[in-house]
Amino acid sequence: MNKSEAKDRIQKLRELINDYRYHYHVLDESIMSEAAADSLKHELTTLETKFPDLITPDSPTQRIAGGISKGLAPVVHSQRMLSLNDVFAETELRAWLARISKLIPVGIEPEFFVDLKMDGLACALVYENGVLAQAITRGDGTVGEDVTASVRTIESVPLRLRDNIGGTVEVRGEIVMYKEDFAALNKQRELQGLSLFANPRNTAAGTIRQLDSALVASRPLRFHAYDVTQAPENPATYTEAYRLLRGLGFKANNQASLKKSLDDVLAFANIWDAQRHDLPFHTDGLVIKINQRDLYARLGVVGKAPRAAVAYKYAAEEATTTVKDIIISIGRTGAATPVAVFEPVVVSGSTVQHASLHNADEITRKDIRVGDTVIIYKAGDIIPQVQQVLIKLRPAGTRRFNMEAELNRQYPDLEFFRPEGEVVYRIKGATSTTLLKQALAHFASKGALDIDTLGEKNVSSLVEAGLVNDLADIYSLKRDQVMNLERFAEVSADNLINAVAAAKNPPLARFVYGLGIRHVGTQTAIDLANHFRKLDTVGTATLSELREVEGIGDIVADSILLWFDEVDNQQLLAKFRSLDVWPQDVKATSGKLLGLKFAITGSLESMSRDQAAEKIRSLGGTFQSSSGKDTDYLVTGMNVGASKLKNAEKYDTKIIDEPAFLKLLA
Ligand code: IVH
Repeated sequence: MNKSEAKDRIQKLRELINDYRYHYHVLDESIMSEAAADSLKHELTTLETKFPDLITPDSPTQRIAGGISKGLAPVVHSQRMLSLNDVFAETELRAWLARISKLIPVGIEPEFFVDLKMDGLACALVYENGVLAQAITRGDGTVGEDVTASVRTIESVPLRLRDNIGGTVEVRGEIVMYKEDFAALNKQRELQGLSLFANPRNTAAGTIRQLDSALVASRPLRFHAYDVTQAPENPATYTEAYRLLRGLGFKANNQASLKKSLDDVLAFANIWDAQRHDLPFHTDGLVIKINQRDLYARLGVVGKAPRAAVAYKYAAEEATTTVKDIIISIGRTGAATPVAVFEPVVVSGSTVQHASLHNADEITRKDIRVGDTVIIYKAGDIIPQVQQVLIKLRPAGTRRFNMEAELNRQYPDLEFFRPEGEVVYRIKGATSTTLLKQALAHFASKGALDIDTLGEKNVSSLVEAGLVNDLADIYSLKRDQVMNLERFAEVSADNLINAVAAAKNPPLARFVYGLGIRHVGTQTAIDLANHFRKLDTVGTATLSELREVEGIGDIVADSILLWFDEVDNQQLLAKFRSLDVWPQDVKATSGKLLGLKFAITGSLESMSRDQAAEKIRSLGGTFQSSSGKDTDYLVTGMNVGASKLKNAEKYDTKIIDEPAFLKLLA
C-alpha cells in the first residue's frame, strides 16, 4: 500500500473505530464485537507504524480516556483505576516477564496470581466503617460516575461487610451478567415484544448507569471482586487479598490461583481456553499479576497500565479481513456454491482463507462484494462465516455480486439453472449420478490411477447399480456383486477387482490428479507431489506455501485450499485411509541432507519453523515435529527448554545452533 492509499484507509479506519468507541463507551451499545474492533485497531496501528507521520493526536490509537455521560455525579477515584496491557501469545507473555525481570531486585522470585478475566464493567466499592458508602464506575480511570443506587440492588454486593475491619475499605471488581440470566432476560423481552440486547457486557454496563434503581433491580447483575485497594491493613499478596475479600463477604472467582512459574500459568491458560465456554460468564482471557503486592507496587505504572500485571487474551473468535475474490465451487451434486476468498487471517487460533457464502440470496442480503472489509467468525468454533460487511470501509468502484454473470464467467462451458423454489443454482442436465460417473471415470483414467478395466461403460453400470457412491467405494467392491451385473462375468469381475486392488497405493501425483481438483491438471499434480511429497502435506499447505510451488498462482492455490477445506472431501480422504488406500510418498532421491532427520526447538531468527521444514525437505532431509530417538540433528533457536536438550543428549542427537544449521543448508 502506498502512502496516499494508506492515508485514505487510515482515515476510514479511524472514523469507524471512533463510531465503535462512541457507541460502546458512551451509549453502552455495540455496533460490532470487541474482537472485531481490536482487529481494526490492529490494522490501524500497523499502518501508523509504517507511516508514522500520518499519526495525529486524535487518532484512536492515541486516545487514553473515555467519557462521562450526563446524569450521574462524577467522583474522583482515591487511586486511579488502571487498565491492563494485552498479551496474545506465549512469546509475548515471556517477553513481559523478561522485561519486568530486569526491574526485580536480586533475590526476589516473582510469583504469579492468575484469575479469569471477566467481560463486564469495572466498579469500585467504598466502605466506611463496614458500610457501603459509594460505588463508582471506572469512567476515565481518574474520575468515575456515582452508581451507588444501582449497585446497592446487586445481591452479591454486601451492604455491610461481613467482617467489619473498620476504617475505609475499597474493593474493586467486575459487574457481570451471567450468560444464562442474559438469555432469560432476552427471552422475556422477546415475549414482551421489546428489542433484544446485544450481549451481556453491554447490558450490564447500560443497566448500571440507569437512573431508575427499580429497573436495575429487575436485571440480574453480579459482582465478582478482584482487588482490595484500601484497607486498614494492606494484604501482602494477592492470595491473601482474595482471602480477605471472601472474608469480607465478596464473591471472588474460585478458579483464581497462585502459580510459581510461567509454564504453570500457561497450563492454566490452556485449561481455561478449552473450558471457558462452560463458565457461567464470558471470559476472554486471564489476568496475570505478580503476587507479591509490594513488588507489584514497586514495578510502577506505564501510561495507564501497571507493569506488574497483564491480560493474557485468548485467540480472537472474530477478526476482520478483506474479500479478495468470490469464486464458485461446484459440489458433488452439481450445486454451485459461492465462496469468499480472504486475505488470510487468524481466527480462533487457525488461519482462515475462505468461507462459504452459501448462495446468491445470502450474498445479496449481506451485500458482500469483492474488495469489502468483512467481520468473520467461526460458527460453532469450526466453520468460518461472514458475519457482517463493514460498508463504511468499502472502496470506490466495487460492484454488487451477480451470480449468473459469475457462473458464466467462471464456467463458460456449463449451463446452470435454479430449480423452482430453491436458492441454489445447479448444473443443467447434471445429476449427482452423472457427476459421479464423470468423477470416477476421471479417477480411473490413464493420467490418474490408470485402471483400464474401469472404462466409461463399466463405471456407468457400477454407479447405476448403486454399488459405488463415491470414489472410495470401488475399493470395497465384492466379486459376487460385480459378477451379477449385466456387463460382467466371473473372469471380468475378478479382473476388475484385482486391477482396483493393484491401484491402492498409486504414485502421489496420479492420485492428486485423480481427485479432480479444479485447475489441477497432470503437470500441477506432479509439481505438487514433488514439492510436498505427502498427500497430508498438500492438504494442510497454506496459501503462501502453495504459492511457493513453481507455476502455482492464486487461482490454482485457492482451488486446492478449497478442495481440502470441504467437509465432503475430508470425509472422502478419511474413507480412503480407512480402506488402506493412500498414495505413496515421494521419496527424495537427491539432496545434501538425504536420509538425515531434523527437529527444531525454540524459534529461529532467520526463518519460521515452516520455512525451515520446507528447506530441509527440499534438500532431501526429513523434518520431525519433535526430537526423538532417531533424530540426527536438533536445531536450537531462542527460548529452548532444558528438558528438550537433555533428551537429545540421551539419544546422541547432534545439537546445533542456528548459524551451524544455516551452514548445513548453504
Ligand atoms: S485485576 C489494573 N482481575 O479487566 C487493573 N481485572 O483491562 C487490574 N477484569 O479494568 C485489574 N476480570 O475491569 C482484574 N480477574 C480480574 C478481572 C479484571 C476482568 C477487568 C477489569 C480491568 C480490566 C483490565
